[in-house]
Amino acid sequence: PVPVPESEEVRSASAQKVKIGIYFATWWALNVVFNIYNKKVLNAYPYPWLTSTLSLAAGSLMMLISWAIRIAEPPKTDPDFWKALLPVAVAHTIGHVAATVSMSKVAVSFTHIIKSGEPAFSVLVSRFLLGETFPVPVYLSLVPIIGGCALAAVTELNFNMIGFMGAMISNLAFVFRNIFSKKGMKGKSVSGMNYYACLSMLSLLILTPFAFAVEGPQMWAAGWQKALSEIGPQFIWWVAAQSVFYHLYNQVSYMSLDQISPLTFSIGNTMKRISVIVSSIIIFHTPVQPINALGAAIAILGTFLYSQAKQ
Ligand code: 3PG
Repeated sequence: PVPVPESEEVRSASAQKVKIGIYFATWWALNVVFNIYNKKVLNAYPYPWLTSTLSLAAGSLMMLISWAIRIAEPPKTDPDFWKALLPVAVAHTIGHVAATVSMSKVAVSFTHIIKSGEPAFSVLVSRFLLGETFPVPVYLSLVPIIGGCALAAVTELNFNMIGFMGAMISNLAFVFRNIFSKKGMKGKSVSGMNYYACLSMLSLLILTPFAFAVEGPQMWAAGWQKALSEIGPQFIWWVAAQSVFYHLYNQVSYMSLDQISPLTFSIGNTMKRISVIVSSIIIFHTPVQPINALGAAIAILGTFLYSQAKQ
C-alpha cells in the first residue's frame, strides 16, 4: 500500500505533544529528586527558612551565570515588569517557605496530599474574592478534594498542626501566585525560563531578611556543625542537590507553562504529586494506614474530576 503522507499540521501537533511529554517527565523527575534531598536535609538540619532561601539563591546564581556567559539570553525588562512581578514574588515566597516549613514537620507525602487540594483553594478564591462563578460540576468536584484531604489529615499517624497549616498556607499563596503570574506574563516578551529566574531573584530579596529574623546565623551555624558531624561531608552535597533541583524543576515547570494552558498545567502538577507521594513513602518508609491512603486517593481523584469539570 502507498503510505499516506502526513500533513505538516499533524506532524507539528505530534512534535508539540512529544515536547510537552518530555517537559512533564523532566519536571516530575526533577521534583522527586528535590523532594527527597530536601527532606533528607530537613531531617538532619531543621532550618526550613534557611534551606528555602538557599534554593532561591542557587537558582538566582545559576541564572546570573547563564546570562553572563550567554548560555541564556538575558531578558529585557523595564520597571513595569518588576512592579508586576512583585505580588507574584511575594506569593511565591510565602508558598515556598510555608511548604518547606510543612515538610520540616511532617512526612513529604502528607504535605503533598494536602497540596493536592490546591484546586479547591483556586475555586474558593476565584468565587469569593474575584466573584467568578463556575458550573455546578466544578463545585461538586470540591467534595472529594476537600473530603479526601480531610480524611487523609485526620488519619495521618504523624499529624502536626504546623505541618498541616504550612501546606494549607502554601496552597492559598500559590493560588494567588498563579493568578498574578498569568496577568504578569500576558503580553510580555520574557520567556518562561527568564520569568522564573527573575521571580527567584525577587523572592530571594524578600525572603532573606525574614530568614535572618526567624532563624539567624547562630542557629544555622550550631545546626550545621551537628549535621556535618552526624552525616559527614556528603551533607553539603544534599544541601546543594536540594537547592539546585528546586530551581531546575521550577524552571522546567515555567517553561512548560509557556506552552500549555493553566488547566493542563494543573493536571500535570497533580500527577507530579502522585510520583512524589509514592516515591517518598517508599524511600522514607513512611507508615501509611489503608484509610489514610484512601483519603489521599479520593483527594487526587477529586482533582482529576475537577479538571474534567473545568474543561
Ligand atoms: C516548595 O518548596 O516551594 C514546595 O515544595 C513547592 O511545592 P510545589 O510542588 O507546589 O512546587
